[in-house]
Amino acid sequence: MTGPTAPLPGAVGTTLQCGHYDRYECRSCTWLERPYDEQLAAKHASTRDLVHAVLGGRPEPEWLAPVPSRPEGFRTKAKMVVGGTLDEPTLGLWDPRQGAVDLRDCALHAQGIRAALPVLAEFVTLAALAPYDVPTRSGELKHVLVTESPAGELMVRWVLRSTEAEARIRKHLPWLAETLPGLRVVTLNLQPAHAALLEGEREVVLTEQATLPMEVNGLTLHLGPRSFFQTNTDVAAALYRTARAWVDEIAPASVHDLYCGVGGFALHLAAPGRAVTGIEISADAVAAAERGRDGAGLSPELVRFVAGDATSYLLEDRADLVVVNPPRRGLGAELANRLENAGPAAVLYSSCNPETLARDLEVMRSYAPVRARVLDMFPQTAHLEVLMLLAR
Ligand SMILES: C[S@@+](CC[C@H](N)C(=O)[O-])C[C@H]1O[C@@H](n2cnc3c(N)ncnc32)[C@H](O)[C@@H]1O
Repeated sequence: MTGPTAPLPGAVGTTLQCGHYDRYECRSCTWLERPYDEQLAAKHASTRDLVHAVLGGRPEPEWLAPVPSRPEGFRTKAKMVVGGTLDEPTLGLWDPRQGAVDLRDCALHAQGIRAALPVLAEFVTLAALAPYDVPTRSGELKHVLVTESPAGELMVRWVLRSTEAEARIRKHLPWLAETLPGLRVVTLNLQPAHAALLEGEREVVLTEQATLPMEVNGLTLHLGPRSFFQTNTDVAAALYRTARAWVDEIAPASVHDLYCGVGGFALHLAAPGRAVTGIEISADAVAAAERGRDGAGLSPELVRFVAGDATSYLLEDRADLVVVNPPRRGLGAELANRLENAGPAAVLYSSCNPETLARDLEVMRSYAPVRARVLDMFPQTAHLEVLMLLAR
């Protein structure tokens, strides 16, 4: 398999073929008809234009060449709606016009996920997990969520309306483990509401292991069932490597990583004598980040993680550099103003939404973008990740 910065064999001028798209069963890949090299160029240009529009006299950043992804087989997490019947379940999507659509052969998914989905469909029948029927509000099984690690191990989460099927799932778990030897974590997630929610608050772990080790650039991050992890692990690895190279040039003595998740940026940026503090709303993610730190042999005195709200972050100890990697909504006025008024000399902003990045840049007027790079985390769609270094 090719890495994200390797040349893209056959990608120039070619488009991905998909029967589901052609038959109008799934139109999620809104850019499928655009050749991959054009997609990449368009993401680079549109992000640069959005940023340019809000600079207001500040100098333009140096835009590095965008980081491509492999155009298919890159998604290391799958979120499948379960539909159909007990004997013939579908794993894919549900829409009011077509009902349940089976997308288990979706080309975007990583190899191990594609191989696992038919086995998981078989398990639905074996364990008699009645697919939830949206119009009649009957059935139990709503979604199956699968993550594949770089080592080819799997975390499988069954999103159910209740614990009605728990005993049957436990009974047939040995069959699943035998059929999918890479299976490491299996959980039930309970989502009782009749609402378009992917998952609920309660998680029941059925396996001995509760987290999936994700080895990225030689570091092991630990992913728990309800924690965030980037969708495209190869491009995430390139993101963390780029962040590390840029931060090492500045050589800050202290770093704050806001919205740190399971510690991807914080653990990559740790260096001898550098104090790193990660702040994250999910206590589970914080515990996983601490586990990653301990596994990497990093000292808790130098690298620490705090469960808290990044928006109102106000640590007494100031950092020389702050990393921010917020959800799509961006930093928002409160945090952007806080950084503008009392932030450090340098901010590294990793954004999955250039529009909210641009909006935050409008508030943070005393920072000038120094360097920026688009990373294509989401081929075949308009979505992207952009990393930007800002300095006062
Ligand atoms: C885009 S993810 C980034 C995670 C991490 N930096 C990474 O590379 O995997 C955003 C993270 O922000 C967390 N989050 C959302 N709102 C937050 C808030 N108000 N304060 C702190 N963390 C928050 C989410 O739980 C999630 O882990």
